[in-house]
Amino acid sequence: MKDYKELWNSFFMDTYGQLDIAIEKGEGSYLYDVNGKEYIDFTSGIGVSSLGYGNKKLIEAITEQLHKVFHVSNIFYNTSTIEAGQKLIQRSGMKRVFYSNSGAEANEGAIKLARKYSFEKYGEGRGTIITLKQSFHGRTLAALTATGQEKFHNYFFPFPQGFKYVEASNFEALVNELDGTVCGIMMEAIQGEGGVHPLQKEFVKQVAELCKEKDILLMFDEVQCGVGRTGKFFGFNHFDVMPDIVTLAKGLGGGLPIGAILAGEKVEHTFKKGDHGSTFGGNPVALTASAVVLDEVCSEGFLEEIEKKGQLLMEAIKGLNSPKIKEVRGKGLMIGIEIEGESKLAQEKALSNGLLILTAGQNVVRLLPPLTISEEEIKKGVELLVQCI
Ligand SMILES: Cc1ncc(COP(=O)(O)O)c(C=O)c1O
Repeated sequence: MKDYKELWNSFFMDTYGQLDIAIEKGEGSYLYDVNGKEYIDFTSGIGVSSLGYGNKKLIEAITEQLHKVFHVSNIFYNTSTIEAGQKLIQRSGMKRVFYSNSGAEANEGAIKLARKYSFEKYGEGRGTIITLKQSFHGRTLAALTATGQEKFHNYFFPFPQGFKYVEASNFEALVNELDGTVCGIMMEAIQGEGGVHPLQKEFVKQVAELCKEKDILLMFDEVQCGVGRTGKFFGFNHFDVMPDIVTLAKGLGGGLPIGAILAGEKVEHTFKKGDHGSTFGGNPVALTASAVVLDEVCSEGFLEEIEKKGQLLMEAIKGLNSPKIKEVRGKGLMIGIEIEGESKLAQEKALSNGLLILTAGQNVVRLLPPLTISEEEIKKGVELLVQCI
């Protein structure tokens, strides 16, 4: 396509700061632009294309489902939906699931779930959700308000009420904010958009204890770090805690739009008929894709491989000994590199070198390669990366 930039700018809303590339196709861990140029992909569509591009099992399963049926309303049962949901319940250890279409929508539902649990047990006035500073929970109004970054809280007034923010991994600050109005504490095990910051284990364990003691719901937003991304099925598995509510999206569908709210024992019966819904939620094609992803991610040795590949990637970056690199952090295949210069410039340079990377703020380069990336591709990518930082 010749004038793709001009065309886009002529009718799309101006919400995204795009890179100068029009992608035509993908294969494995590579993407190809309209001119046939090849790129190693360290982005996987921001953690979505977890099995890379052109995955045969995924394509076959989706195609088969497309031929059967690709949408039925939730007023009917559907066999593929039941099968996929059962897999998620079995693999997650949670009690119940509600499917949405995106991460923000899952978080909206999770907030409703926490508030209803509290309302039924304690009555009105106990609807506050505590979230962490530097968090990111989505773009819809409540999810945006839950997002603990001032820069997002503009223009769209009035924002919904009932949110408080505390510094990540600062238990004392959290205790100071506790009052009788709090019904839930929501956090990302690794803050992704906020700069790839893993929470401290001790902090998470303390919060989990506190939640149990005060009957506050422990909520994990696993939209970015869930479904194997960090080398464990959930990001919070690194901290040996069990939440009451978990949200998923991104990698769960392997590239198809999906979101999920998972409920633990406390809240498994909180939503009753009519309390929540979504026309597209639980789409059979998206759920069929999620079943393939779950089978792959939970197949023997897959998570261990992610851990191993993550270590390789981390060590290769650290081994560069570049004075431009201030810190490398993250877990599994979710890695942040804090650099001296502007991450945006590094991203543009990487692009011209044939490597796709993400940013997470001004000075952090974020890497979220497909979970299926090979060690060789990792090494090749790092060689290209060094030239950009
Ligand atoms: C942790 C987290 N929560 C929620 C969201 C929002 O997800 P979506 O863009 O699918 O609404 C994101 C997106 O980046 C995210 O990283």
